[in-house]
Amino acid sequence: MADRLFRAEGVTKRFGGLTALKDVSIEVDEGSIFAVIGPNGAGKTTLFNVVSGVYRADEGAIWLGGSTLHGLGTHRIARLGVARTFQITRLFKQLSVMDNVILGLGRGDIPMGGLIRGPRSKEAVDKALETLAAVGLEKSADTKAGTLPYGDQRRVELARAMAMKPRLLLLDEPCAGLTHHEAVNLAEVVRQVRDTGVTVVLVEHNMHVAMGLADHVAVLDHGEKIAEGTPETVQRNPLVIEAYLGRGESGESHA
Ligand SMILES: Nc1ncnc2c1ncn2[C@@H]1O[C@H](COP(=O)(O)OP(=O)(O)O)[C@@H](O)[C@H]1O
Ligand SMILES: [Mg+2]
Repeated sequence: MADRLFRAEGVTKRFGGLTALKDVSIEVDEGSIFAVIGPNGAGKTTLFNVVSGVYRADEGAIWLGGSTLHGLGTHRIARLGVARTFQITRLFKQLSVMDNVILGLGRGDIPMGGLIRGPRSKEAVDKALETLAAVGLEKSADTKAGTLPYGDQRRVELARAMAMKPRLLLLDEPCAGLTHHEAVNLAEVVRQVRDTGVTVVLVEHNMHVAMGLADHVAVLDHGEKIAEGTPETVQRNPLVIEAYLGRGESGESHA
């Protein structure tokens, strides 16, 4: 059996009277793709925010390997090897693709001004180009990030996270807003990332994208984990079908 890289145990997060996560536990094997799916508002992004240190869980424990992440700040967690992308792309749109990736090289804590204004080291440039090649964007290195098609912007964001050489990569709806063709291509890039040894947890509203990509799936609904297993077993689970279909959601939309 593969080693567990990541564990969340009994994580609860409240916002005032709303319990966004209720006693959620997941365990992620090293080198796997783990998908967290669920309808809008299920608590998927909140889970990422708690894991990456944006919010502190009210209850529960979070571990990366032998290190506890609970209560640490975003920079500490990044330095321990957790990188993430966001549901809505957060690129520096005025900067080149290359500079966006170079910003990731220092695990997110390099002061931006100095880095951009100062000369870039050959080492940084080489590493950025290597990372861009891994997502198929080496030809766009000098392009302003904001001018790329949205599918390519998502790749830049992925490359920036990869430049951090993370052990755990959190992807929040990486295929949201992409055409079917772009989504299929990005899914292939995510597989290649996993094949380099990076453990991936992705949040996905679109059940079909997640099912095609993930080794293991957990389903959240109203902040609670309602099912977990292989894509095949989860897809057949009546609770999951109810969560998606019972409310008129096809799982196809990105609304
Ligand atoms: N910072 C916040 N303050 C208050 N409520 C929040 C905050 N972040 C998320 N929520 C609420 O928590 C619930 C889960 O949200 P979210 O994790 O974004 O869901 P998902 O990503 O699954 O669509 C929603 O009801 C949302 O409105
Ligand atoms: Mg979300």
